[in-house]
Amino acid sequence: MCGIVAYVGPNQAYPILIKGLYRLEYRGYDSAGIAILDKDIKLYKTKGKVADLDNFVKDKDVTGTIGIAHTRWATHGEPNNANAHPHFSNSKKLAIIHNGIIENYSTLREELITRGYIFCSNTDTEVLVHLIEDIQIHENVNLMEAVQLALNQVIGAYAIVIISKDDPDLLIAARKGSPLVIGIGENETFVASDATPIVEYTRNVVYLDDEEIAIIRRNQELKIKTIKNIDKTPYIHKLEINLSALEKGGFDHFMLKEIYEQPRSIGDCMRGRLNVEKGIVSLGGILDYIEKIKNANRIIIIACGTSWHAGLVGEYLFEELARIPVEVEYASEFRYRNPVIYEDDVVIAISQSGETADTLAAIELAKSKGATIIGICNVVGSSIPRATHAGTYTHAGPEIGVASTKAFTAQVTILTLMALMLADKKGSISKSRFHQIINELEKIPSKVEETLKVNDEIIRIAKIFKDSRNFLYLGRGLNFPVALEGALKLKEISYIHAEGYPAAEMKHGPIALIDEKMPVVVIATNQGVYEKIISNIEEVKARKGIIIAIVTEGDKSVRNIADYVIEVPDTDELLAPLLATIPLQLLSYHIAVMRGCSIDQPRNLAKSVTVE
Ligand code: AGP
Ligand code: GLU
Repeated sequence: MCGIVAYVGPNQAYPILIKGLYRLEYRGYDSAGIAILDKDIKLYKTKGKVADLDNFVKDKDVTGTIGIAHTRWATHGEPNNANAHPHFSNSKKLAIIHNGIIENYSTLREELITRGYIFCSNTDTEVLVHLIEDIQIHENVNLMEAVQLALNQVIGAYAIVIISKDDPDLLIAARKGSPLVIGIGENETFVASDATPIVEYTRNVVYLDDEEIAIIRRNQELKIKTIKNIDKTPYIHKLEINLSALEKGGFDHFMLKEIYEQPRSIGDCMRGRLNVEKGIVSLGGILDYIEKIKNANRIIIIACGTSWHAGLVGEYLFEELARIPVEVEYASEFRYRNPVIYEDDVVIAISQSGETADTLAAIELAKSKGATIIGICNVVGSSIPRATHAGTYTHAGPEIGVASTKAFTAQVTILTLMALMLADKKGSISKSRFHQIINELEKIPSKVEETLKVNDEIIRIAKIFKDSRNFLYLGRGLNFPVALEGALKLKEISYIHAEGYPAAEMKHGPIALIDEKMPVVVIATNQGVYEKIISNIEEVKARKGIIIAIVTEGDKSVRNIADYVIEVPDTDELLAPLLATIPLQLLSYHIAVMRGCSIDQPRNLAKSVTVE
């Protein structure tokens, strides 16, 4: 989810490249770099924002009319100068930038080290530039052919651009799984992660498809080949939309963009960690601690807000699958109530930003008592991953909208993988049950894609209830945390008061709130307690409450008693939260838009609560 920009043409490259990085900075940044070719490759990179890079090169030689630039969203290797892109080959004749994840990088790295290559970073990306150089030397092929051969050895996602000192008029770009756009100007060509750095220079663009390589030579027609050496004819599109819309990928708000990114982000979260064919679930970042976690007497999950809701889902999953007792704590409470913590406790800290002060403080408290701390974070190299003994990144990509959406489903995906990994090691579920769940888990990204099709129906419902003063969200079992999350989403962006409740808990007081003005959202996808949730709906109906039900497609019973029904695809009950959450995210979004609220920066809120 980084930003890539490249240029070849008659003009100085630096101003075009740095402006392009500023345009792409919304995609997330933790470090940035640039390489410009003019006799030699002049490469500058630094941790921090694009402005830090711009400042860093103020007194440097950046002349040249061909170059590449990158703003990084780290997946492998801390955000620092060494891990920033571009990366040099050992000869310093090649420089590369990359967006994506090379899953088999460690195997390639080991091979290249045995062949004498020296690595200057601990990124996955660096294997690419050494592999390409190694192939060029040993196969005696040109740069494009070396890239072709290298990419046939790569497993994972990539969008790359590479330059060579020996061919100062050539850019080679390629993609698989990460986006890349080529801008065709008058005797100049641009390459970027999306059209935002390109549109002010040209509206003629070519979108590379997966496994395609673009051969971009100064003053020559663009050529495209596949990594299997098949020629492809470039198809030129005309860019219609304006610049500001482009930054949000054509969506009106980052929150909506991130809701619609979830098929991709959940897929990225599982990439290299779930192998259904081999029946393997493996989170590399916790392998050294898996025995510790497996044998823990207790797991304590600490988090705040939406991450705390993900933790509640985790509690159900760990106890159901791995039979390990779990407690879920608000970090802000945990840190001050002098909790009992044992050395054999395992604490799992969940945080999108990795900077939440209460969660960090709770970690330090647990660590001081000897507990083992495991992190689940989205921002590589943030404070929480650095404070934990081990952990795993959600790879959801930068989440710009203050209301957390794709980070929540990514956290739940990681917790599901972790629970499955533990259950498999403990033998606490049967092999057939294990395979049943992982088969279904692999389908979740496409089922989320399917679920997003309820958007029009959600807009219809949002119009009816946008002026309601209160909402209730009800769920049971794994859908109770979903009810809490749905209520939080509505509260924080539409400013309507909403409460999430265990459905059965209504009769212990909250049912007094029910009247004909009270919309009650009920998540009723459960198979296990289905009859019970129907009784709860009846109790609300008997008091004239209005029912908006989230049900499994084909549901008959709830449909007969609810006022509005939203269907989500059928899936394993343990995976239902990953689908049931989506309509609730859309409902809160559309109601907030209709109320004219500030979607991406709601009043009083911040994306990362770095204070108590
Ligand atoms: C969620 O939509 C909110 N933005 C907020 O509750 C958030 O989840 C909470 O502040 C925790 O943030 P973290 O995941 O970055 O630690
Ligand atoms: N995986 C590469 C890295 O961590 C690229 C990350 C990105 O897409 O920004 O450096």
